[in-house]
Amino acid sequence: MIQEITVKDLDTTRFIEDKVNEIREAVGADTCINTLSGGVDSATVTMLGHAALGSQLRTVIIDNGIMREGEPERVTEIFQGLGVKVDIIQAQQIFHDALKGVTDPEEKREVIRQCFYKDVFAKVVKESGAKVLLQGTILTDVDETVAGVKRQHNVFAQLGIDPEQAFGYKILEPLIQLRKDGVRELGKTLGLPPEIYGRIPFPGPGLAARIIGEVTPERLVTVRKATAIMERYLKDSGAFQYMAILHEDRVTGTRGGKRDFGLQIEVRCWESVDARTAVPTPLSFDLLTTMANEITEKVPGVVSVTYNIASKPPSTLEVI
Ligand code: XMP
Repeated sequence: MIQEITVKDLDTTRFIEDKVNEIREAVGADTCINTLSGGVDSATVTMLGHAALGSQLRTVIIDNGIMREGEPERVTEIFQGLGVKVDIIQAQQIFHDALKGVTDPEEKREVIRQCFYKDVFAKVVKESGAKVLLQGTILTDVDETVAGVKRQHNVFAQLGIDPEQAFGYKILEPLIQLRKDGVRELGKTLGLPPEIYGRIPFPGPGLAARIIGEVTPERLVTVRKATAIMERYLKDSGAFQYMAILHEDRVTGTRGGKRDFGLQIEVRCWESVDARTAVPTPLSFDLLTTMANEITEKVPGVVSVTYNIASKPPSTLEVI
């Protein structure tokens, strides 16, 4: 049973001191490695690892081809500004190939997990000589996996998987007692800019979690474009998280006076504290229709945009 530390009880300075010592002790003279996705959790754990290990920590971004527009480059630049060297590993093709023909949501998550850890990361770890992997798993990831709601791609021990045996490395998860609000506080204390610690969550399976049905390079382009537009409209909403989803079903539309059996984008925007429960943000109808018009105008093939008005539960934040 993992002992939760709520944001109210979190003394960030002491927590950092404790975790820095624990990480140093666990790593010893070895090399430690971590992957940065640009999300709040991996960014915070990168800063924590950097504080503990300096150049003994190797940080990589695995460009899996399922990230948002310009993401690997932007995150690398921010971390370089913070004195943390980040290497981008190009792996788009490997992920695209692995995702071919996969439509089941849980199978998609499993394929991404296997591809990430076994096919790409294990090789990077081997080459680096690192014995330890630092990971930003948080308590919410564990809860949902154990409850069987969703298999979070970064949860092993809770699933009875020994990462040392399965993938060849030991995993440290120093954020596992925290939830998102606590991680944000910690990230702030560790010197992350507000652009990063205040960032909306983004899941490990990336845009693949926002595509219902097969994840193809073409469908990724569609959801990536819609995401960029939607994020521009909602960035000042103050919401916990927002997302654009590409549906599998097509619907009849009309463009230039002709029938266009086109694509559907669903927008979700959530009010939540820790992602365990969530309600939709009451966005203005003007904002919604202006955003919808831009999406149908600028994202090829899209003829329908909907806004989700159900809550979690029974919904979940992501669609897969
Ligand atoms: P759900 O969809 O389960 O999401 O309501 C709750 C929160 O978790 C994020 N999420 C993930 N984060 N790996 C992650 O790192 C994952 O596999 C994953 N799946 C969901 C989701 O974005 C939301 O903030």
